Amino acid sequence: MSELLQKARNYESKAAASIAAKDRPAFHLTPLCGWMNDPNGFSYYDGKYHLFYQYNPYDIHWNTMHWGHAVSSDLLHWEYLPAALAPDESYDCNGCFSGSAIELSDKTHLLIYTGVKQHKLPDGSLRDAQVQCLAVGDGQNYRKYEKNPVIDASKLPEGASKADFRDPRIWQLSDGRFCCAVASRPSDGSGQILLYVSSNGFDWTFWTVLDSNKNRFGKMWECPDFFKLGEKYLLLVSPQDMLAEGEFNNGNGTLCLIGTFDEKTGKFCEEGKQIIDGGMDFYAPQSVQTPDGRRIMIGWLQNWDTCSIREAGSPWAGQMSVPREVFVKNGRMWQKPAVEFDNLRKDEVSFNNISMDSKQMSFDGVKGRVLDMEVNISPDADCYSCTIRLAEDKNFHTDLIYRIHEHTLTIDRRYSGTRRALMHTQVCKILNDSKDLNLRIVLDKNSVEVFLNGGEQAMTCAIYTPQEAEGISFIADGKACLDLKKYSLKV
Ligand code: FRU
Repeated sequence: MSELLQKARNYESKAAASIAAKDRPAFHLTPLCGWMNDPNGFSYYDGKYHLFYQYNPYDIHWNTMHWGHAVSSDLLHWEYLPAALAPDESYDCNGCFSGSAIELSDKTHLLIYTGVKQHKLPDGSLRDAQVQCLAVGDGQNYRKYEKNPVIDASKLPEGASKADFRDPRIWQLSDGRFCCAVASRPSDGSGQILLYVSSNGFDWTFWTVLDSNKNRFGKMWECPDFFKLGEKYLLLVSPQDMLAEGEFNNGNGTLCLIGTFDEKTGKFCEEGKQIIDGGMDFYAPQSVQTPDGRRIMIGWLQNWDTCSIREAGSPWAGQMSVPREVFVKNGRMWQKPAVEFDNLRKDEVSFNNISMDSKQMSFDGVKGRVLDMEVNISPDADCYSCTIRLAEDKNFHTDLIYRIHEHTLTIDRRYSGTRRALMHTQVCKILNDSKDLNLRIVLDKNSVEVFLNGGEQAMTCAIYTPQEAEGISFIADGKACLDLKKYSLKV
């Protein structure tokens, strides 16, 4: 093992011991210590789900990336394993960036990731060289391949940037060949996804361009994920520098393209496009296929535009979303918490046919910061808005506001205890025409995840409100009928 990896492992085991379990979310994965961003290498290997993550163990800020590592049998209870990768080779000395994983026929676990090495330009500025590299392991320890990098600038198509070439996503074609989708920046300055193929997972050749942004959705597309779901193929990417347009928000966003894919030509035909999550904090999702054939997606429950929300002295920074099953319905990707999460439900408390009006209402047993809740709101014709107030006490609250005539859901965390002037509200136009709104609200200590109308849309945000703020209340501007079911969780 390299000195750098040994150093990271020694450091993290000591640093993690000083983080109390009560200071972590109950079922959302956080870094063992320090900083986490993208999920990496999300795979099912040797009877367990493996989830790696972009990791700086030494600080709660992004810096030279390592890969952290955790395993789980149910996607909710995670066991930390020692850091898997450190930036210990000449080709990755400035970071082991995002990537993916697959099991090989000899039962080893293959990781493919981006190695970053910076060089100085004549004007003194630094420029990345990003290349794709391999590491092979047993689910705990990984050895970098001696012929790394396996995909470098010599395998780029004409005009593609050597500095923005990252986040390889590996899978197997039906003929057994390995295929890899890599994010790239073509000469128009936007994004494209390149495909590489390999017969053995080690020797790669450039195949084709899977899809090009052509400056439609932001600029560079980061972190591609690509998979078949039913009859369709879904390409998930995280575009940088989005302009707000229709359902898409500004900044670092998420995009799902649904279409068809021809395995012979490598051609992807786009048929539909949508945002993946309309809240403030969801980025770089990756998915895995479960042994029983479901497609489960996990995203970084944070965003580059909002990550400075963490205060100095916080025990950790960054967390993963709840695992979400994705499925295609009416030509769009829907998502809902994985059934493993449903199985945690206990102690149902329900209230039906409640008349809501301008009086703020709360209900016995409906409070807490770790829970699952289903709410149905049926507003009267003249009702203007309905608000659900979460993580509330006399100083703090985070609101979900249903504005009936605009047909929007707003998430507003301005009063969640943040001292930073970041993006604190986000508005989602509700797609389902019905005036009745169904919300599934998943709360963990530091997050709010909302699934609208059976999972047609989702909105996610992180909150760092003191845990004592555990009130939940409801208020209508006008009259509305409310049904609610609240569950505690076996965590
Ligand atoms: C996306 C990203 C990736 C890169 C990683 C670096 O959040 O920018 O493109 O591999 O983070 O940590």
